Amino acid sequence: MTLIMLNAIQYPIRRLFEGLEVGFDGPFGPVWNPLRQLGTLAFFFFWVAAVSGIYVFIFFDTSVSGAYPSIEQLTHQQWFAGGIMRSLHRYSSDAMVICMGLHGLREFSRDRYRGARWFTWFTGIPLIWLLLISGISGYWLVWDELAQYVAINSMEWLDWLGIFGHSVAENFLTRGSLDDRFFSLLVFMHIFAPLFLLFAMWIHILRVNRAKSNPPRGLAIGSFIMLLALSIAYPAVSHPPADLGRVPSTLYPDWFFMALYPLFDAAGAGTLWALVMGGSLLLCVLPWLPPLRRNPAPEVYLEQCNGCTRCFEDCPYSAITMQPRTDGRPFEQEAVVNSDLCTACGICVGACPMSTPFRREGELQTGIDLPSLSLNTLYKKINQGIELTKNTPPEGQARLLLIGCDHGTDVNGFAGSGVGTVSLPCIGMLPPSFLDYLLSGDRMDGVMLTGCAQCDCHHRLGIEWTEQRLAGMRDPYLRKRVPRNRLHVHWAAANQGSALGHQLKTFQNRLQDLAATDSREAK
Ligand code: HEM
Ligand code: SF4
Ligand code: SF4
Repeated sequence: MTLIMLNAIQYPIRRLFEGLEVGFDGPFGPVWNPLRQLGTLAFFFFWVAAVSGIYVFIFFDTSVSGAYPSIEQLTHQQWFAGGIMRSLHRYSSDAMVICMGLHGLREFSRDRYRGARWFTWFTGIPLIWLLLISGISGYWLVWDELAQYVAINSMEWLDWLGIFGHSVAENFLTRGSLDDRFFSLLVFMHIFAPLFLLFAMWIHILRVNRAKSNPPRGLAIGSFIMLLALSIAYPAVSHPPADLGRVPSTLYPDWFFMALYPLFDAAGAGTLWALVMGGSLLLCVLPWLPPLRRNPAPEVYLEQCNGCTRCFEDCPYSAITMQPRTDGRPFEQEAVVNSDLCTACGICVGACPMSTPFRREGELQTGIDLPSLSLNTLYKKINQGIELTKNTPPEGQARLLLIGCDHGTDVNGFAGSGVGTVSLPCIGMLPPSFLDYLLSGDRMDGVMLTGCAQCDCHHRLGIEWTEQRLAGMRDPYLRKRVPRNRLHVHWAAANQGSALGHQLKTFQNRLQDLAATDSREAK
């Protein structure tokens, strides 16, 4: 696949997601926007399914003859507790399928699955199968007509491989052919598949530094209430009991888990195996179709590095380790970058206390620097931005620098008329000392920062670290002397250019008023 083909597939999906996300920002706000929390929501729904599943299991009879009546009793005689728990179990599992599907598709459309991220993508693929196995094996336990249909089809599908030596589907051939031992095996499958799933979910986020696996509390409560309301309004019920002597006539499948079964009926086991294996293989190799051409990883300059660990703390992908000092200087540790894990976001450059425009003899040097955009180049770009604004503003207009990132709204389109622009790989690359340089030194009337949408940093932690550095909660923090009224932050997704433009204009007018007040007071 060429890059052009890949872009042609990704672009419409990304635009669709961006449109929906901005739409959802209205009622939910950026923090609670479910489309920006799909991975954490999938985790949350897993826990709801786990707790409700344990409750249902307490009342479940694991024998072939007892399974169906025990579930019926739970559903109807204990509808206020067991019935609701059963429905919660079903709907949270469905919600997990939805979140997982959308989450994977969204990461693909945003190109957050290639390069250093291949591992997280790759380990996401078994999650699809483990979740489907968990759900499908759950439907067997009800032992109603749907269970009968799904179990027989699944076993016939497995039989096609011929790996069991005998036909597993034979266990379902006639009334009485299914014994309690085999049924217990199905029960164990439904317990172990989710346990494997949980283990695989842990592996999935292993390489993600400070991975968020819990949604914001408000969103979790809201999602739970939604599931609860659904469980009360449409309680989960069974089909008539399974009867191996009869072919079920009318079924209402759960399409989130059973979408492949009609395909099995229509095309047969071989075609379905080819489709499933081919599809999985395609997903596995997708990060290399084509591989991402990455910018080079940052280099550590030991003569500037004092081993303070800030870059190590702030790296979103655990690409930095602290190791014993090798240059004999009187520090215990030094930063070492693993280029295989690095996305070249530059957040480590923004974290390094040596990344400052004030300590300068000749070229700017820092402890850790990006070859594709060195601190010295950034310094030059910022100075160019300052110079540009000197030439362009109409009389009396405020001059400001708009600093953004390569993944949010393109800031370069706003250059001119008193506005200079600089775009970084991630806004987290900006050391706060540069704001000090611009504002305390009166080099600019104002600075506006932007990046991706709030809670949706392309490099995960750039927005969070920037906000914490500005608020003085994280080193390196913005010094107190920097006038905050001349600094404005507005996070904007790639499709929120007009809102950003409006904010920019308003801020420029505010700076003008500020300058007018200052000059009146000076007189
Ligand atoms: C049970 C289902 C899944 C759960 C619970 C889950 C959860 C998560 C979580 C919590 C993160 C880290 C978010 C963060 O803190 O930045 C993540 C990242 C990611 N997931 Fe999943 N995920 C699931 C399925 C999948 C699937 C099926 C795929 C695709 C095949 C996938 C692809 C990714 C990728 C590529 C990232 C990395 C994003 C980045 O590096 O910025 N996930 N997932
Ligand atoms: S550039 Fe980004 S991913 Fe690479 S080491 Fe620095 S902070 Fe980590
Ligand atoms: S932040 Fe800078 S000084 Fe601190 S360990 Fe990293 S490279 Fe060294």
